[in-house]
Amino acid sequence: MYGQADFDLFEAIYTTRSMRRLKPDPVPDSVLVKVIEAATMGPSGSNRQPWMFIVVTDPETKHFVAERYKKAWEIYFTDKAREVVANEPDSPQGRILRSAKYLAEHIAEVPVMLFACVKKYNDPRRAGQPMTNALFPAIQNLCLAARAYGLGTSITQLHSMSAKEIDARLGVPPEYSNVALIPIGYPKGRWGRPERRPALSVTFWEKWGNRRDSVS
Ligand SMILES: Cc1cc2nc3c(=O)[nH]c(=O)nc-3n(C[C@H](O)[C@H](O)[C@H](O)COP(=O)(O)O)c2cc1C
Repeated sequence: MYGQADFDLFEAIYTTRSMRRLKPDPVPDSVLVKVIEAATMGPSGSNRQPWMFIVVTDPETKHFVAERYKKAWEIYFTDKAREVVANEPDSPQGRILRSAKYLAEHIAEVPVMLFACVKKYNDPRRAGQPMTNALFPAIQNLCLAARAYGLGTSITQLHSMSAKEIDARLGVPPEYSNVALIPIGYPKGRWGRPERRPALSVTFWEKWGNRRDSVS
């Protein structure tokens, strides 16, 4: 037993989708540490563990980030996307856009903004590049562990459009990149299976292009 939450792995995997409508109720620090610990169980090249996480609950800091997140959303939310929301609100794309729009408009109200930062390489070949590949297994572990505690998450990156200002506010040093902003909180909506293409449609057997319609 590694945490208080005893949750079936496959139930977590099959119900961890972006939960962007979150209640403002606070999340205990002890639970946040548990989900961060789950993140740190992720693999990384040479076990460098190049991640650092910043937990933000201070309303003023959240407001500062939210203003910049919303500005980035206004750029991302193109006329074409607005048309999808207006004309096909219940299409798969329409649903994602409406949910993302909701988050952009309410992100200041989420109880926790978790920033996932990663170290940059310092060897001459890759100097300055963030070790981003090492961060995402950790982030997915974090989202699954949060799910086990009944907490909704979404992985976001729009804050990076204001990286300099946000990093200055949070004190992120130049040798780290602030890769993802993960809002965390108890969800308003219900858990559900993410919409995905079927496994067989994204699988080739032995060689690119060889598909199977079924397996035994
Ligand atoms: C690298 C990455 C960046 C993302 N950036 C954002 C973002 O800035 N804002 C947002 O609302 N969702 C963001 N998402 C969430 C995706 O839109 C979402 O995972 C995708 O639409 C699938 O939906 P689901 O998670 O509900 O299954 C991001 C996801 C990933 C993996």
